Amino acid sequence: MNVLVTGGAGFIGSHVVEHYLNHGHEVFVIDNLSTGNRENIPFVKAENFFEEDICDLDLVGNIIKEYQFDLIIHLAAVVSVVDTINNPVDSNEVNITATLNLLESNRLYNNNIKRIIFASSAAVYGNNTQLPNSIMKLVNPISPYAIQKYAGEQYVKQYSNLYDIPTTALRFFNVYGPRQDPKSAYSGVLSIMQSSYLDEKPFTFFGDGTQTRDFVYVKDVVQAISLVADSDNAIGHVFNVGTGKPSSLMEVFEFLGNVLEKDISTNFVNEREGDIKHSYADIQELSNLGYFPKYSIEEGLYSYINESTKKEIGV
Ligand code: NAD
Ligand code: UD1
Repeated sequence: MNVLVTGGAGFIGSHVVEHYLNHGHEVFVIDNLSTGNRENIPFVKAENFFEEDICDLDLVGNIIKEYQFDLIIHLAAVVSVVDTINNPVDSNEVNITATLNLLESNRLYNNNIKRIIFASSAAVYGNNTQLPNSIMKLVNPISPYAIQKYAGEQYVKQYSNLYDIPTTALRFFNVYGPRQDPKSAYSGVLSIMQSSYLDEKPFTFFGDGTQTRDFVYVKDVVQAISLVADSDNAIGHVFNVGTGKPSSLMEVFEFLGNVLEKDISTNFVNEREGDIKHSYADIQELSNLGYFPKYSIEEGLYSYINESTKKEIGV
């Protein structure tokens, strides 16, 4: 199959690319490297890598016309909630307009498309107090990021209903694992926490550390993508992707300290604006398709630490 991964040089994208290459597919990437890194995907041929902005609507349309992809996994986005609060208009272009253009380009130019998969987010649930978050429950987006992801997934869903374009949207919960970039203050919290431990630098909690998240290991996210891509029953639907279990930030912090046998200092500052207090997923619908998270938080953290320490010592 011809597979396109937008945002393929990023954290999740690089694992998706690796998976489809390992399964013998021809994989293409569009990525402007705004938060991604070409070194994440050395296994992608130069001629299959387009260092381009997905907001270049004509260019994306032309690539789709030319390559007639079978499968598109659309991950390119402004991923930081805080960035979308600071730049609501620009992030709207990337997260909504470019998504709509991708759908429309396939409707107009690609009769070969078998599936478009869109990365939505648990952020759409906002501060819902009735947990777990289920796709049957109301959404409550409280940041531009959440609004944009909800709009994106609804366009994706309606392109299936209105135009028979085979699509699936996945609401990822908090994904972690190797190649998640810890460098920005707005990077995924476990990448920041892990690098604080490895570099023996202080870690800052926004709030008191009692906030909870459903931390899902990146390999389980790849499992979910590959499963829905192969399932006709997933067409036109939205699914949660998590583990079904919450963990508090403080629990994870203490677990990492015990495993690494390190004790680093901590700071506590105010909660972030637009931050969600508690979140975890109801994964029943995805489980009905055969999904089973293989990594508990403990197993995922062990695997993450092993991979990161191998990289540090150059194995
Ligand atoms: P990431 O920042 O590592 O990956 C995003 C990639 O998209 C990067 O390589 C970046 O360079 C690229 N990109 C950004 N804007 C682009 C543009 N205008 N044109 C082309 N490329 C562009 O982030 P990630 O964690 O791998 O996230 C992947 C997707 O999953 C995103 O859509 C994100 O919103 C979604 N998601 C992630 C999480 C998580 O916990 N990491 C949770 C829910 C949803
Ligand atoms: C994350 C994703 C977002 C996704 C959402 C789905 C990132 C950068 N963001 O948002 O794309 O849609 O999950 O649930 O991956 N925190 C600290 N100290 C830090 C950093 C963060 O205490 O140094 C706290 C935050 O305030 C928050 C929690 O840790 O309460 C998680 O933060 P973060 O990893 O940024 O994730 P979300 O905001 O949940």
